[in-house]
Amino acid sequence: MTSKHCFTNPTPTIVFFLLFALQISTILAASSHVINFRSPNLFPEGLAWDPTGQHFLVGSLRHRTISAISDAGVVETLVSDPSLPENVTILGLAVDSRNNRVLAALHALPPLPPFNALAAYDLRSGSRLFLSALPYAEEGDEKRAVANDVAVDFKGNAYVTNSGGNYIWKVSEKGEAWILSNSARFTEHPMIIGEKFSSCGINGLVYNGKGYLLVVQSNTGKMFKVDADDGVAKLVLLNEDLVGADGVVLRNDGVVLVVSSKRVWLVKSNDGWSQGVVFDKIDLDDEGFPTSIVVRERERAYVLHGHVLEGISGNSCESFKIEEVRSARESEGENVWMYVMVGIGLAYFLFWRFQMKQLVNNMNKKIN
Ligand SMILES: *[C@@H]1O[C@H](CO)[C@@H](O)[C@H](O)[C@H]1NC(C)=O
Repeated sequence: MTSKHCFTNPTPTIVFFLLFALQISTILAASSHVINFRSPNLFPEGLAWDPTGQHFLVGSLRHRTISAISDAGVVETLVSDPSLPENVTILGLAVDSRNNRVLAALHALPPLPPFNALAAYDLRSGSRLFLSALPYAEEGDEKRAVANDVAVDFKGNAYVTNSGGNYIWKVSEKGEAWILSNSARFTEHPMIIGEKFSSCGINGLVYNGKGYLLVVQSNTGKMFKVDADDGVAKLVLLNEDLVGADGVVLRNDGVVLVVSSKRVWLVKSNDGWSQGVVFDKIDLDDEGFPTSIVVRERERAYVLHGHVLEGISGNSCESFKIEEVRSARESEGENVWMYVMVGIGLAYFLFWRFQMKQLVNNMNKKIN
């Protein structure tokens, strides 16, 4: 008679299944991929994904290196270029898959002598293909220029932001450099950011495949659409300012992800980037000072925590990380499927329980 008792009350079973479902959904939400890696005082600011090598690439605040970081967190130095000025910073990185090379924006922080350049290195051997000095718009400009981020188009032309001078350089596949855009649009909006970053203007940029660039400006939170041939710039009207915007990346589905040290914004446009809408935000832990964002296969987005501010202040640091970021809003669709699966499981279990009950009843009848 005791066995019969076990099957009479369905409540514990359902509670168990609901708890189980909740558990799975929290595990799914929290199980984003984190890659911890160690390299004493590397302080990387720039991040790129190399699809052929299947690893990330990162620069360094002072080491004049580009390192490959595997999914397991193994660090390998791909480029070491001691012919660059001592302590020069390797900032933005971009992989030019067509030409099998990586492009790096180089800048010397004060009090080092001014230095702003774009370098290209072979992705296999790590050897340097060119080093191009970036020309200044006017005399004395070198004091505030900061070659910050780089993007590449399908022909191998590179685009480099000058975040101190608020203009954009273009560098041909062969390494010839000129000023593409020194638009008045870049200086007509008020700065809305604390003093520390007030001199940081146009920063992250991405080539969108249709002949233009999308460029974000840290100290105003604005986004610009810039023609990649003639440099004509237009403000992209957004529903909010992306204050502190640093890196930017484009997903295959057309969604643009912008990162600051505090969050990632997901932005989309349905009119070719005259207007855009921020449709989700992901909060980040700002302790590691996130600076860059990349997308690898299956649209997975990763940010780099390179502790660069600590490095600039002269602190030491050995551990850095690359962290996958996921939009809760976008995972809702996946969660619906999870609930459906758990629902089917529950129905199946209840059916099984019903059959067992029948079996027990039959057996009881026989015994009695
Ligand atoms: C480069 O950095 C090291 C360590 O911070 C310092 O000792 C050295 O003087 C720097 N070199 C230059 C040229 O500033």
